[in-house]
Amino acid sequence: MYAGLIPFIGVKKMSDLLKLGVLISGNGSNMQSIIDHIENGSLKAVIKIVISNNPEAYGISRAKKHNIPFIVLKSNDFKNKEDFDVKLIKSLKDNGVELVILAGFMRIISPTFLKAFPQKILNIHPALLPSFPGLHGQRQAVEYGVKVSGCTVHFVDEGVDTGPIIIQSAVPVLDDDTEETLAARILKEEHKIYPRAIQLFADGKLSVKGRKVFIKN
Ligand code: GRF
Repeated sequence: MYAGLIPFIGVKKMSDLLKLGVLISGNGSNMQSIIDHIENGSLKAVIKIVISNNPEAYGISRAKKHNIPFIVLKSNDFKNKEDFDVKLIKSLKDNGVELVILAGFMRIISPTFLKAFPQKILNIHPALLPSFPGLHGQRQAVEYGVKVSGCTVHFVDEGVDTGPIIIQSAVPVLDDDTEETLAARILKEEHKIYPRAIQLFADGKLSVKGRKVFIKN
């Protein structure tokens, strides 16, 4: 160290930051929230690569704006799902990704992908799992008539939205809610809990036993 330079206690070196790979297919507002939390210092991580399977995804413009490297992998350019996943895994590994963040990524995760990143893939779902998994969680909640819904951050396993739950946040469902109004209320919570879950992972505070995630302290 140069004489006179005092190390910043509490400020992590670039090499200490958790390296994220963010997978998107659309708007990318959850990715934006992660970027904002990184930029305001409340999330000690770095996005090494953004990967979109949709060349039209608005999230790509967000990545560009923040000078985050991105690539587009179009399903049609690959012979089969296996080839797509091999390329996906290689792109993440080549960028040193330690935690994969699914942020509105509209593809089923294959066993090969899971094996490449065991307990290192997170997803956010717009419902209080195990209620309303799969597509249109908000619409399912409105149609079912529940009074409370919300969002869930969970580890990804081989099922659809079935992995161990890290954090959930609840919101009321109002009598006059539509899918859109409920989705907007839930999205605000998503933007809070996803960065929080990632920081817990970065701090090594998460341990998984069976279905349960334990959070230290
Ligand atoms: C969010 O509602 C998330 O819960 C779901 O997909 C949506 C992605 O939204 N998995 P955005 O692209 O982050 O705005």
